[in-house]
Amino acid sequence: QKRVLSGVQPTGNLHIGNYLGAIRNWVETQADYENFFCVVDLHAITVPHDPKSLASNTRDIAALYIACGIDPRISTIFVQSHVSAHAELTWLLNCITPLNWLERMIQFKEKAIKQGENVGVGLLDYPVLMAADILLYQADLVPVGEDQKQHLELTRDIAGRFNDQFQSVLKVPEPLIRKEGARVMSLTDGTKKMSKSDPSEMSRIHLLDRPDEIAKKIKKCKTDAIRELAFDDSERPEANNLLGLYCIFANKTKEEVQAEATTWRGWGDFKNVLTDAAIAHLQPIQTKYDEVVKESGYLDRILKEGREKASATAFKTLNAVKDAMGYLPPL
Ligand code: TYM
Repeated sequence: QKRVLSGVQPTGNLHIGNYLGAIRNWVETQADYENFFCVVDLHAITVPHDPKSLASNTRDIAALYIACGIDPRISTIFVQSHVSAHAELTWLLNCITPLNWLERMIQFKEKAIKQGENVGVGLLDYPVLMAADILLYQADLVPVGEDQKQHLELTRDIAGRFNDQFQSVLKVPEPLIRKEGARVMSLTDGTKKMSKSDPSEMSRIHLLDRPDEIAKKIKKCKTDAIRELAFDDSERPEANNLLGLYCIFANKTKEEVQAEATTWRGWGDFKNVLTDAAIAHLQPIQTKYDEVVKESGYLDRILKEGREKASATAFKTLNAVKDAMGYLPPL
C-alpha cells in the first residue's frame, strides 16, 4: 500500500485555500493509502510566534483535520514536535544540503523580505525540516497546494543526494497536486494567493467562519465591471477564482457552471449562489468540529495514539539513516 504524508502549520485560522488545496484531497484518497497527517508545530516558529497560543492552535488544527473528514481509524494524526526524530533528521539532512539550494526557495525569499533584519536561520531551514517530515515516513505521495511544489522538488533532491552519498535508504516522494483548488486566490485581489498571513481578514474565508461572516466577505469581495461571468480570462482573475470555488462548493463541473452562469444577471446573483454553496459546504465541518472539541479526552487520545504510531515508523528510518552515515549506535 502506498504511503501518504502531509501537514499544515498551526499558525492562525485555517482558510478554504488550505482546505481545498490540501485537506480535502487527503480525505478523498485516505481509504486508498496508508496516511500520516501531521500538525507541523516546529514549522510554526520559523516566524515570530506567540507562546500563549501555540498549544491551542495545534489542537485546533488536529480537531479540524477530523472535522474535515480525516478518520483517525484509517489515518494517523500526530503533532510534529511530539516525534523528536523530525528535528534530529533535519540536522542530519542540513549537513548534506547545499546552502544555495535553500537560498533559491521562493517562499523563503518572500517571507525573508517581510522579516527584514530579523530573518532567523529557521526560516531558511524550513524546507529541510519539511523534507525530514516526508522522508522519515518513506512517503510515496505528498498531497499539497501548488505553492509547495518547489519544496517538494527540494525534498526529492535531498533524498537523491543522500541516497547517492551514502546508501539508498530514502524513498523519493511524488507531489500530489490536484488541479481544482490547488491555488485559491485572495478575495480582495485575484492575483494574490489566499494566505493566513494577509493582514486583511476580508481576503480569506476561514473554515470556522459563521454564515454571516461568509456572506459579508463574499458580498464585499473584489469583482470587475463585466456583467457576464466566464472562466479562464487572464484579464479577470477574480471571476476565474470565484467560479472555480463555486464548482467545488456546489460540486458542479465547469461546463455545468458555465451553463448556469447564463441565467445570472451579473455578479449580484452569482454572489448569492456562491454564498449559499460555501455555507452549505462548510456547515457540516463546523458541526463536527464543535463535537470533536466538546468530547473531553477524545483529541488527546487520538494524538497520543498518533504519536506512538508515527514514532514507530519515524525512528526506524532515522536509525537507518544514522546507520548509513556511519554513526556509532547507542551503547
Ligand atoms: P501551510 O500551513 O502554509 O499550508 C498548508 C497547505 O495548504 C496549502 N495552501 C493552499 N492551497 C491552495 N490555495 C491556497 N491559497 C493555499 N494556501 C495554502 C499548502 O500548499 C499546503 O498544502 N510547508 C507546508 C507545511 C508542511 C508540509 C510538510 C506539507 C510542513 N511539512 C510535509 C507536506 C508535507 C505548508 O505550506 O503549510
